[in-house]
Amino acid sequence: MSHLKTQGPIKEYLLDQVVDNSTGKVNSMVVREYKRIGEGAFGTVVEAVLRRADKIEDGSEEWLGPFAIKRVPAQTEYKSRELELLRVVNHPNIVSLRFFFDKRSSADGQVYQNLVMECLPSNLQNEIKYYRQSKYTIPYPHMKTYIFQLARAMLYLHGFGISHRDIKPSNILVDPATVTLKICDFGSAKKLEPNQPSVSYICSRYYRAPELIVGCSLYTTKIDIWGLGCVIAEMFLGKPIFQGETPESQLKEIAKLLGPPPKVFFFKSNPLYRGSMYSNKLFACSIEERFRQIFSNSPPDAIDLLMKILVYDPEKRASPRRVLCHPFFHELKSENFKVYPRGSSEAIALNLFNFSNYELELLGSLKDELLSS
Ligand SMILES: Nc1ncnc2c1ncn2[C@@H]1O[C@H](COP(=O)(O)OP(=O)(O)O)[C@@H](O)[C@H]1O
Ligand SMILES: [Mg+2]
Repeated sequence: MSHLKTQGPIKEYLLDQVVDNSTGKVNSMVVREYKRIGEGAFGTVVEAVLRRADKIEDGSEEWLGPFAIKRVPAQTEYKSRELELLRVVNHPNIVSLRFFFDKRSSADGQVYQNLVMECLPSNLQNEIKYYRQSKYTIPYPHMKTYIFQLARAMLYLHGFGISHRDIKPSNILVDPATVTLKICDFGSAKKLEPNQPSVSYICSRYYRAPELIVGCSLYTTKIDIWGLGCVIAEMFLGKPIFQGETPESQLKEIAKLLGPPPKVFFFKSNPLYRGSMYSNKLFACSIEERFRQIFSNSPPDAIDLLMKILVYDPEKRASPRRVLCHPFFHELKSENFKVYPRGSSEAIALNLFNFSNYELELLGSLKDELLSS
């Protein structure tokens, strides 16, 4: 991860109008940027500290942070609901927004929206790469801990009808020292309303659900669950599971694991689809055997979980609550379950089951199953 973090010149500036997201109050603050963390499709992310400018006289000023500031052009033809959504979400496994402000760039004169978020040291893409380079996978206890948190974030978001629409390892922040996970990058996220169409050309290709590939516009939050499956698979394989070279061949890569998509799948997703249907079987064995071939080194309960997630029909694809209750995670409830951060001989305390009343409500009848030991 450190190769991403190039040390740039320190930039310090004073702003009149910085909104504190927790209070809604507007203050003047000093921002000190000192490190570039990420360069995405739409903007840049820098590491920074902030302090109140109006407290300088009484000597109580203190630098707050470190934070990650994501900067995107304030107005583009592409509608981002990132600020709108980050302002309302509040969950231990979703990156939290602390402040936000608009600023005109001296370089190009454009107005940029700045989102000041809590900062995490790494993301899942870096973690997967780190272990792959040493020919390992992320240790299973860490994987279980991470995936459980990811599913928990989805339970929360999907409960509001919010679909992230860009689930992939680089949009999943982690802190390897505490094995904490938080979803970030709500640049594509949207609250989906029943029977209201949305664009199907969202999600990065490798993580795009089959219904999106064939042009479905009345999709559901289950597209994120597909992404979850792809991320879990990638943790086990060390590389993306479905690497289509073109948007069309992405479906073929999926068919190499799941077999030909059923005719009814095309009809339900998009009756107007005219692309290839990949109706010839690309392997001789059963789908279950195919999963066992591809995940030959993975534990059976992980394969069972993946088989419940990587399903063509979004309605049959596991829901977040079903994922959380899967036997793959049973171990997390055991008193003997221990997680040791990389290079540490001391187990860390995890807080995976501190469900809010809202989450318990969403779990419904599965609540007792999940909380029983
Ligand atoms: N809060 C944060 N803490 C630490 N790193 C972050 C944070 N937010 C984003 N990043 C890093 O910056 C990268 C780009 O941010 P992201 O929100 O995904 O922007 P984009 O929409 O350009 O993909 C991420 O992949 C991640 O590595
Ligand atoms: Mg991103």
